[in-house]
Amino acid sequence: EKGGYDHFMIKEIHEEPKTVRDTLNPRIKNDKVDIEELGMSDEEIKSISRIRIVACGSAYHTGVTAKYVFEEMARIPVEVDIASEFRYRNPILQENELVIAVSQSGETADTKEAVRMARAMGNMTLAIVNVVGSSIAREAEKVMYTWAGPEISVATTKAYSAQLIAFYLLAMKFAEVRGLLGEDEMKELIKDLKMLPEQIEMLLGNKERIQKFANRFVAAKDVFFIGRGIDYAISMEGSLKLKEISYIHSEAYAAGELKHGTISLIEEGTLVAAVATQDSVYPKTVSNIVECKTRGAFILAVTTVGNEDIEKVADYVMYIPQTNRYFTNSLAIIPLQLFGYYVSVGKGYDVDHPRNLAKSVTVE
Ligand code: M6R
Repeated sequence: EKGGYDHFMIKEIHEEPKTVRDTLNPRIKNDKVDIEELGMSDEEIKSISRIRIVACGSAYHTGVTAKYVFEEMARIPVEVDIASEFRYRNPILQENELVIAVSQSGETADTKEAVRMARAMGNMTLAIVNVVGSSIAREAEKVMYTWAGPEISVATTKAYSAQLIAFYLLAMKFAEVRGLLGEDEMKELIKDLKMLPEQIEMLLGNKERIQKFANRFVAAKDVFFIGRGIDYAISMEGSLKLKEISYIHSEAYAAGELKHGTISLIEEGTLVAAVATQDSVYPKTVSNIVECKTRGAFILAVTTVGNEDIEKVADYVMYIPQTNRYFTNSLAIIPLQLFGYYVSVGKGYDVDHPRNLAKSVTVE
């Protein structure tokens, strides 16, 4: 049932090119994004005053990425909420605020309750869900399915990648309807999206190199993931992947925030994984790398081909192929998922069933 792989997690990582394709292709028609399935009129899309994303864990991290994408591409303000926080603080929703819930299982109790509350407040709700007919899919008014297929490993990988695609498509559609994305730009974006599966395949081809690297860090005590903008969102997911299956303490920080406290934890040899795929903040992240390095950190950089100058400051580099700046998360997460996986394998842990965790959290 694991198709020849040692664990479901690595099998599911290898399914990511297919997952991306299956979530993307049916929604691209004649060089346009087609999300008719949602039954949202252009008028409705134009009237959205704000987007509120509610989710837990990795699904929340795709929401953080989506905030950067929606705000820049479609100029719609976005709030991202952890579902368990949203539901207990008497939240304020605006009129015409679209509430998007994200969930692989469609059964996460807090996310489901957040949707119910949003509906009760009279807001439009949309669920990005992987399991057809699940509770959240039934609770929300509109559903956009991620076509990742069953995900068994507790640590999510392919569903995460599919959620990102769903968000890119929504942002592109909303931007187009709101007059912010011309035909040519749309074509370019679609071309880049269509290249992702092959590019992911290429990254998977490097897995032995990542395994070797991971084996050097099985005894790590603390790891820090840093990045800015979308790179910060990637860092959050890279960090969660590592900690949940390897039991190594790891944290994600907005790179500029490190020196406001956390940098005091960096010692000789502490691993700092710096994600630097966004050109607009690249020099800033590089200077944060230097700050960590001067304090003895071992620097792993994740960056785009073309940024080879990073080798001057990083001890080890994982390169991702070039893509549109909005989509780098879909590529940068692959080496980080592999890293988490191989550290766990190196420690001899039960990768698919990490201690204390359940695949879906149906209790509060
Ligand atoms: O099924 P959901 O997407 O609603 O689950 C949300 C989180 O419980 C989930 O993403 C969790 O964080 C994963 N173990 C992360 O790998």
